[in-house]
Amino acid sequence: MCGIVGYIGKRKAYPILIKGLHRLEYRGYDSAGVALINPEGQLNIYKAKGKVAALEAFAADKDIEGTIGIAHTRWATHGEPNTVNAHPHYSESERLAIIHNGIIENYAVLKAGLMEQGYTFKSDTDTEVLVQLIEYTQINQHVDLKTAVQLALQQVIGAYAIAVLDKDHPDTLIAARKGSPLVVGIGEDEYFLASDATPIVEYTDKVIYIEDEEVVSLQVGCDVDITTINNVTKTPEIKRLELSLSQLEKGGYPHFMLKEIFEQPRTLTDSMRGRVNVRQDNIALSGFIDNKDRFLNAKRIIITACGTSWHAGLIAMYAIEEFAQIPVEVEYSSEFRYRKPVINKDDVVIAISQSGETADTLAAIQLAKQKGAFIFSICNVVGASIPRISDSGCYTHVGPEIGVASTKAFTAQVVALTMLALCIGREKRIRDERISGTTNPLTTNPLTEEQFIRIVRELGQIPDKIERVLGQNKRIADFAKTFTYAQNFIYLGRGYNFPVAMEGALKLKEISYIHAEGYPAAEMKHGPIALISQEMPVVVVAPRCGTYEKVVSNIQEIKARKGRVIAVVTEGDELVSRIADYIIEVPETEECLTPLLTVIPLQLLAYHIAVVKGCDVDQPRNLAKSVTVE
Ligand code: G6P
Repeated sequence: MCGIVGYIGKRKAYPILIKGLHRLEYRGYDSAGVALINPEGQLNIYKAKGKVAALEAFAADKDIEGTIGIAHTRWATHGEPNTVNAHPHYSESERLAIIHNGIIENYAVLKAGLMEQGYTFKSDTDTEVLVQLIEYTQINQHVDLKTAVQLALQQVIGAYAIAVLDKDHPDTLIAARKGSPLVVGIGEDEYFLASDATPIVEYTDKVIYIEDEEVVSLQVGCDVDITTINNVTKTPEIKRLELSLSQLEKGGYPHFMLKEIFEQPRTLTDSMRGRVNVRQDNIALSGFIDNKDRFLNAKRIIITACGTSWHAGLIAMYAIEEFAQIPVEVEYSSEFRYRKPVINKDDVVIAISQSGETADTLAAIQLAKQKGAFIFSICNVVGASIPRISDSGCYTHVGPEIGVASTKAFTAQVVALTMLALCIGREKRIRDERISGTTNPLTTNPLTEEQFIRIVRELGQIPDKIERVLGQNKRIADFAKTFTYAQNFIYLGRGYNFPVAMEGALKLKEISYIHAEGYPAAEMKHGPIALISQEMPVVVVAPRCGTYEKVVSNIQEIKARKGRVIAVVTEGDELVSRIADYIIEVPETEECLTPLLTVIPLQLLAYHIAVVKGCDVDQPRNLAKSVTVE
């Protein structure tokens, strides 16, 4: 989603801003722009529809001087994606320039009031309303820019991260946030500003995360000044970044998505490091250990997430119910937050979010927190908003995920949730046995110690087994070419692999623009079977597990209707191999861990189909990596 970059210091701002915009490209956007105050005190704004490269081409012969500037990638909300609506926006007098992430919900009322005062508007954006309001406040209340920003934001309903320049004060950069992330980087006599740390990491590892309703004033030679919009002074908390530049490069791969798919053996090893101890047959998850009783006493666990993270949540439902026998509900955050959900004090709410910034998930846990539930979050980006407001949690530690379509973050979420399910199940059994003084199978939890140990040992094998699946990349790339004609795909799976079918379908939709649906295999008879023909490829996730025979019957039903089947099966499978058109084998593993292997070929299949179709794999149209608006 929209990206913000800002710079104030002694260096030329333009190259830093452009490089920063490139670093933020992964978030998804449809236009870009930059504002600079040159040494003569002129405020220049350049904007272009499309990629940052288009902006660079446009600005190539323009005045790009200046040591202070702001830049933006816009993901359209109000007004179509074109140059006029792109940020930065000037104020009426063209003295101020603003960039903005988020949505000003009451912009129409504010705009009407400003129009009555004679203000005119060039764009359809809510952002232009805000910069006009700031200028109006500054002039009418005779206040400085920071105060005008504070007063204007007091009137705003909605979400924002903003940065503002005033050409009459070329030594000051003002920024503020509510709901949309904003980070300040502290250099030597210079400051950086960005939506996330990726544009900052090559200059400094000292950062300050701006909190909601805080306004920050950056001036060379002065300390960072932070107040709330109500002018309460805050003490900046400087944090150290744990991010390296090499993590942001493609490392020889043609796309970030392919790099991230291939990173999974390592990223999962990182996710499990210090947690899964194969030699001692143990899992140590500090966020669980510190809050054990909350989990063991929970009457219900609610999982809330969006997109791919929601699919990880569905897999967790199977694992937690199987091992811990606690009822689990998996909710789309966007629905949960608005449907007046029943939340009790003894509920545990698990929020899953790669970015840790998804607006709906953030709002969902704020609601659950107000009602007294315990919030545990599974996030990748350290220090993001969701982990910060959670009671406890577990970072996935897979490094930055740049490809918009989530891959390595998904498998790490599944690992984190599986570790959690195993911890809850085991501790619950130990507690029940202590209370009843028996191992009576009727009163104890179904997760036996033998099963726990087996799964822990198997978790340790997963990175190597993923490596074996990745070994089939070339073959998957070859047969992917056969399917670029398709307009529609169906993905089928059961049990733990039903969410995998949905995730496979989502990957294909996201990056190849082919319509795809994920279905529980047995539900096929209740509708999708009507669609089956030679033109409709069906991907069936059919590893050897509890419902294997039933899935084989589904494949036969598809073949009887001349459907073309791509099947993901366990190594050595003979039954499905005989009837399916294409086979991808994954190594044998515990049933609860099969998603970690079966999802890999589906990621690769989507990737190769999109590449052959010539799609922009890493930045698919209309999609955003971090969805910070509802
Ligand atoms: C966007 C991304 C998806 C992601 C979803 C949830 O739609 O494109 O890849 O799964 O947001 O994001 P989160 O950061 O909360 O996991």
